[in-house]
Amino acid sequence: MTVFFNIKFVFILLCAFYYFKQINAQENLHFIDIVKSHGYPTEVYEVETEDGYLLDIFRVPFGRNSTTKVPNRYPLLLAHGLMGSAENFIIGGPTKALTYVLADHGYDVWAFNARGTWHSRKHRTLDPDIDMREFWRFTWHEIGYYDIPATIDFILNVTNAAKLHYIGHSQGTTVFFVAMSERPEYNSKINVMIGMGPSALLSHIKQPFLKFMAPMFKYLQNLAESLKVYEMIPKNLLSNDAVRLLANSFCDEKPPARALCSNALAAMAGFTEEQLDPDTINFIVSIGPGGASVYQGLHYAQLVQTGKFMNYDWGPKENKKRYNSSTPPEYNFSNIICPISLMYGKEDILIAEEDVIELATRLPNVIDVYKVPYEHWSHMDFVWAKDVGKYINKHIFRVLRKFN
Ligand SMILES: *[C@@H]1O[C@H](CO)[C@@H](O)[C@H](O)[C@H]1NC(C)=O
Ligand SMILES: *[C@@H]1O[C@H](CO)[C@@H](O)[C@H](O)[C@H]1NC(C)=O
Ligand SMILES: *[C@@H]1O[C@H](CO)[C@@H](O)[C@H](O)[C@H]1NC(C)=O
Ligand SMILES: *[C@@H]1O[C@H](CO)[C@@H](O)[C@H](O)[C@H]1NC(C)=O
Repeated sequence: MTVFFNIKFVFILLCAFYYFKQINAQENLHFIDIVKSHGYPTEVYEVETEDGYLLDIFRVPFGRNSTTKVPNRYPLLLAHGLMGSAENFIIGGPTKALTYVLADHGYDVWAFNARGTWHSRKHRTLDPDIDMREFWRFTWHEIGYYDIPATIDFILNVTNAAKLHYIGHSQGTTVFFVAMSERPEYNSKINVMIGMGPSALLSHIKQPFLKFMAPMFKYLQNLAESLKVYEMIPKNLLSNDAVRLLANSFCDEKPPARALCSNALAAMAGFTEEQLDPDTINFIVSIGPGGASVYQGLHYAQLVQTGKFMNYDWGPKENKKRYNSSTPPEYNFSNIICPISLMYGKEDILIAEEDVIELATRLPNVIDVYKVPYEHWSHMDFVWAKDVGKYINKHIFRVLRKFN
């Protein structure tokens, strides 16, 4: 119970509401503009999923100093975490961020934007602001089942390649596991998958707030639905100036506190302060959170509570319709047969070492499990840490080289 009175969490939540109110007013920095400004080639494609969602997918086909694409390379797909977007992969700039360094090493880089992120907040027939209940009724299950396969097919079609490399962070790994388990025919389209902070088994999660909230996910779903909050940016909530003022007085703190305000959910996911420099903080503030459905968070809560990697529990009636069973089925790890390399942080407060080890035993084709050799590596450090070059990129290149 004490967790509710913990001032830090109250503060983070206030900052979240404050910030979410702001983001519609502010122009977010865009992946394409930033990447272009550094002299890299860029392309934007729109992918339509079987269920009508329209996704913007970004491509950096080659590096800054090459004029032609290196032939016979597999294209490479980057998939962001919950509340993130393609921008997660440009935070460290050309010397460190994966988009740039991979392109500079001759990879044809594609960056995914899941349905519901600000780049992919669109649908053939549904309007996200009018048909709210229908548009936002998805978890990361649908991202894995529809968005990832559609994106893979699209990339392979454009590039004429038979397979691609896949690198995911957090939810970017969850949706991959869903895709490969539910549509096993896609395994043959993957050359190698690298999963940072792999998120499927969550029973040993350490984040105290999420651990505390998880058992209430059914109640939270009812609450969200009765308030008609379907998008994980509750812009209709707490609109009064008092909250804003209060949050403001916290948020004008020194840089680390400001970083918390800018992306409260990311902050709750855990990061190492020594690994975050001031320029990076400003950048994170300017890109803002990517956007998501509330059901994505609820589905994770269900994984925490059950300790199982399973479909979302929509309630007995809807489960029966969807799954032909009143309880949701587990995803079948045995179907995920493509080569997988897992990376995890010792102090990741969401993805515990025990869960990664367990996951590695369930997945049939894990080629390597890498524990980041840094004492305090946490969940968001994969995205924005100062030392990703040394601790992350080097290892990624080691794995990719084996599969070229
Ligand atoms: C690549 O291009 C950038 C900017 O044009 C330049 O600063 C850099 O020195 C070049 N690097 C190499 C290895 O040629
Ligand atoms: C592949 O691309 C071609 C030409 O751009 C297009 O006509 C076709 O529908 C695409 N196929 C798939 C499966 O996307
Ligand atoms: C639904 O489940 C029942 C019993 O578990 C089974 O007999 C039936 O074949 C299933 N129907 C479909 C469409 O899978
Ligand atoms: C899981 O998949 C494997 C192989 O793909 C299959 O043999 C097994 O029966 C499946 N398990 C369940 C519970 O469906």
